[in-house]
This record gives sequence, structure tokens and C-alpha cells, in this order.
Amino acid sequence: MKLKSSKTFIALGIVGGLATAASVTAAIDVANQPIISPKTMADALHLVMDSDRTVYTRKIVNRLVKKEKVITASEHFEDDKALVLPAQMFRFGSELVAKRSEKLPDVNFSYSLQSLWPVNSQNAPKTAAEKTGLKYIADNKGKNYYTVEELGGSKYFTAVYPDIAVAPVCVSCHNKHKDSPRRDFKLGDVMGGVVIRIPLQG
Ligand code: HEC
Repeated sequence: MKLKSSKTFIALGIVGGLATAASVTAAIDVANQPIISPKTMADALHLVMDSDRTVYTRKIVNRLVKKEKVITASEHFEDDKALVLPAQMFRFGSELVAKRSEKLPDVNFSYSLQSLWPVNSQNAPKTAAEKTGLKYIADNKGKNYYTVEELGGSKYFTAVYPDIAVAPVCVSCHNKHKDSPRRDFKLGDVMGGVVIRIPLQG
């Protein structure tokens, strides 16, 4: 900490001779530096979520279910004593984030995995921006959707990222699932999207 503040002091001194006690204090108050745009934050959050989702799918579900055949993955994981599905893993994480962030006034974002053709109706889009975004990413392969929406008098930056059928098992399970409203998914299709919402101040 000592080292950090003296470095800051030197940097400010070089920049413009502004190294007063007040500006040094402000400069080391890193929590209040508005240097990350909502888009950059959303992109970074998505990268982490998507990488975790991929790792869980490949290194846990695929390896233990397909390669080593030691356990199954099931929607009814408790009854079946099975692994949770990747989409459930994602939703449980997002629900825990929502609960934990209630106690952190500065950490105020939400995310979910949604689809225009959801197996779980809870994962259907709710706001106009979510509907438009999910349609946009399905129609424009490889592109993300970014917008600003107003909900309950507050403004939010909302990003929608495509979730792709990367493995045959994505397609087969959704196409034959009893609650699935769509049965013609193909490998490589956009099956849904991750929605990340960040409040905008002012
Ligand atoms: C064994 C069946 C199964 C497999 C395999 C599977 N899913 Fe799902 N998927 C589900 C179920 C069940 C849900 C609902 C989970 C919940 O309760 O939120 C779901 C949810 C989703 C959702 C959210 C919208 C919805 O349908 O509720 C997306 C998007 C999705 N899956 C994409 C994929 C992709 C992409 C893959 C492959 C990487 C995949 N799924 C593999 C069964 C499966």
C-alpha cells in the first residue's frame, strides 16, 4: 500500500504538479475511478461466464458422462444423483449473484441465460430489449447486441451475447425435451443468449 501511494504521488507529480494531499487521496481511491465503460464490464463478465460454462461442459459433464461414463447429467439431478446440467449450473450461479449482490450496493448487475424458445419458461425474455436482442443475435450470427433500456424510471446498459449449439448433445436434448417449444435446432444454431444488465447512473 505504501509503495502504491508513493508511486501514485510520483506519477501525479510528473503529470502536472498536482500532487497535493487531496489529489493523492483521490487518486488512490481506486474503487471510485470511472475507467471501465459498461460495455467493457459486460464484455469482461461475459468472457468469464462463458469460459466457466465451457469448462464445466467440457471438463466435467462431457468428460465424466461421455468419456469416462461414471455419472450422468440430469435436469432432476437430486433424484437421479447426477450432475446438474450446464444451463442449470449457469442459472444457480446467477441466482446466487443476485442474492449476494443485495448486500453490496456498489455491485449492481444481473445476468441470465435466456431463449426465444425456452425449455424452462422462466428463461423466456421479459423486457422489450431482451426480446429484440435475442432476435437480433439469432438473425445476425456472430454478433452481440447492445442497448440502453429504461425500466422502472432507471436506465440500464443491456448486452445480449449468443449461446451456440456447440455440441450435438445441445441439439438432441433440446429437440426432444418435452417442454421445448422448438424441435429443429441444428449444430451451430444460436439457441439463446446471455443477457447482462448494468445500471447507469444519472
Ligand atoms: C440433457 C439435456 C440438455 C443438454 C445436453 C443441453 N441443454 Fe440446454 N437446457 C436444458 C434444460 C432442461 C434447460 C432449462 C434449465 C433451467 O432450468 O434453467 C436448458 C436451458 C438452456 C438455455 C436457456 C433457455 C431454455 O431453453 O430454458 C439455453 C440457451 C440452452 N439450454 C442452450 C444449450 C446449449 C448451447 C447446450 C450445449 C452446449 C445445451 N443447452 C445442452 C437441457 C439441456
